Amino acid sequence: MKHIRLRDLDVSRIGLGAMGMSHGYTGFGTDDEQSVRTIHRAIELGVTLIDTAEVYGPYTNEELVGRALKGRRDQVVLATKFGLISHSGRESGPDSSPASVRAAVEGSLTRLGTDYIDLYYQHRVDPGTPIEETVGALAELVAEGKIRHIGLSEAGPDTIARAHAVHPVTAVQSEYSLFTRDPEARVLPVLRELNIGFVPFSPLGRGFLTGAIRSPEQFAADDFRNDNPRFSGENFQHNLDLADRVAAIAAEIGATPGQVALAWLLAQGQDIAPIPGTRRVARVEENTAADSLQLTEEQLARLSALPAAAGDTHNPAQMKLMER
Ligand SMILES: NC(=O)c1ccc[n+]([C@@H]2O[C@H](COP(=O)([O-])OP(=O)(O)OC[C@H]3O[C@@H](n4cnc5c(N)ncnc54)[C@H](OP(=O)(O)O)[C@@H]3O)[C@@H](O)[C@H]2O)c1
Repeated sequence: MKHIRLRDLDVSRIGLGAMGMSHGYTGFGTDDEQSVRTIHRAIELGVTLIDTAEVYGPYTNEELVGRALKGRRDQVVLATKFGLISHSGRESGPDSSPASVRAAVEGSLTRLGTDYIDLYYQHRVDPGTPIEETVGALAELVAEGKIRHIGLSEAGPDTIARAHAVHPVTAVQSEYSLFTRDPEARVLPVLRELNIGFVPFSPLGRGFLTGAIRSPEQFAADDFRNDNPRFSGENFQHNLDLADRVAAIAAEIGATPGQVALAWLLAQGQDIAPIPGTRRVARVEENTAADSLQLTEEQLARLSALPAAAGDTHNPAQMKLMER
């Protein structure tokens, strides 16, 4: 597995997102032993970047990741997130007040069974707390050795620059894939100017780009894609056609559609480390193999020219929390 640097943090350029093991997607929480085996297989295959968050579950995903990493902690770059749950008495999140951050980190350390977090992200920008105060609290946690690097998620260019002026930001994690090209216009240029790494989440378009999703009826009642505009009504067919065009290129070169989607992302820069999510061993093997898939300039150009996915990437309440 090739490695890249997110600023000064060395990571495998394909990571593993653990969210779907405990949260959001059809089948979450039904086979934790398989999820643990998936994490172990990922590490065997050279994956170092493991991604979780306090809010996944909530809490159960960090517990699962902590269990899987027993005896393997020093082999990974462990990333988690705070800020969608309030620990300071607000009725609900987002809450990135210093008091909430301080409480959140203690909980995450306990659940993850570790005494340091490699990369600690603010999950969403908190309109109720100036970013300078949040990053000030994070800088103290760095000084105390509880966290090693600071990250932001779905933050806009202004927030990123303000945060970075207080303490270096190592990475920004936002949605980026053949379905979601938004970061290209405003966020990636700022990251490159400031030498901040980029971690694309949902790099497989929440499963759509693998070709495995053919109908919304595949989703269980508790699958969060049921109220996601990309997966509803006419948008579904438009996006299915788009996924089929990726699958056509994959068929030409004997790769899987998911591998092509990941290889396209990897070709977008040496500062990019996507974190495809799966709870299955065979799929982590498939996804990590994208590391050795080299697309031609012509294939990359055809993929880059695909139209955007139809529909917002989240429901309206969640969209309000994203700085774009
Ligand atoms: N910062 C944020 O706000 C944020 C938001 C969302 C996600 N994330 C992080 O990013 C990670 C990845 O994003 P994501 O999980 O939302 O989306 P994703 O990686 O685009 O897609 C995950 C979905 O694709 C399926 N899948 C994975 N590999 C596959 C393959 N080879 N063939 C067929 N299906 C496959 C998975 O199902 P199975 O599990 O059944 O294989 C799952 O349903 C998450 O785990 C999480 O850590 C962060």
